[in-house]
Amino acid sequence: MTSSDLWDEATASRYDDDSAMFSAEVLGPTVDVLAELAGDGAALEFALGTGRVAVPLLDRGVPVTGIELSQPMVDVLRTKVDAGRLPVTVGDMATTRVPGQFSLVYLVFNTLGNLRTQAEQVACFRNAARHLAPGGHFVIELWVPGIRQMPPGQTAVPFEVSPEHTGFDTYDLVTQQGTSHHYTRVDGETYRYGTTNFRYVWPAECDLMAQLAGLEPAARWADWSRAEFTADSPSHVSVWRMPVSGVVGDG
Ligand SMILES: C[S@@+](CC[C@H](N)C(=O)[O-])C[C@H]1O[C@@H](n2cnc3c(N)ncnc32)[C@H](O)[C@@H]1O
Repeated sequence: MTSSDLWDEATASRYDDDSAMFSAEVLGPTVDVLAELAGDGAALEFALGTGRVAVPLLDRGVPVTGIELSQPMVDVLRTKVDAGRLPVTVGDMATTRVPGQFSLVYLVFNTLGNLRTQAEQVACFRNAARHLAPGGHFVIELWVPGIRQMPPGQTAVPFEVSPEHTGFDTYDLVTQQGTSHHYTRVDGETYRYGTTNFRYVWPAECDLMAQLAGLEPAARWADWSRAEFTADSPSHVSVWRMPVSGVVGDG
């Protein structure tokens, strides 16, 4: 049983409308890094959604397999590519096993946080390690919690304020739980309100989870262009390697 919110049919049908995340400026560098890390091997995407990244990576010549919790998201993917070309198992990325060994496992667009307990996040790292060939890489893309922007006494941090969309995160600093709130204009004066829940996690905690899974640090960048990660970076792309000995941590 997962703690993740289940992405429903209405959410899935709107997902590909976010043109910025589907732009060549975003996807070009993302796919460049992932294709290079996959090398001559195959890639496994955890939480691949509607295939925003998986489909262009496949088009680049990298065989891709997926694990995805939401059948409605997979249904949208299936309007683009069939199961023969891009096999997907519907299940929880913390526990689901798929056949094969992969040179690359990746989990992008902040989705580690969708697992809302530390135990499940550790299990997710271990599940990635289980699928990796010796020398293979696990990559995550994750924001750095925006807590530094929060004045004392406040619990909310806005991340976008425009007539089309107002979004803010609320944080519980005791439990590391958070909720993203979105007010999105649908037409005229009408707005749709939606939320997603997450457990926030710092880069250092990710490193410890990787260590528990038997992975060693390989790189940390601020973004897919491999910019330097600094104290002010709002997100990170982190890479860990399965030792060539292939010895995986307990679990
Ligand atoms: C922000 S979307 C990212 C989709 C895709 N990776 C992308 O970059 O566009 C988050 C996805 O994570 C999936 N998800 C959430 N929790 C999950 C879990 N425990 N196991 C597998 N997939 C999960 C959701 O169903 C949704 O498709």
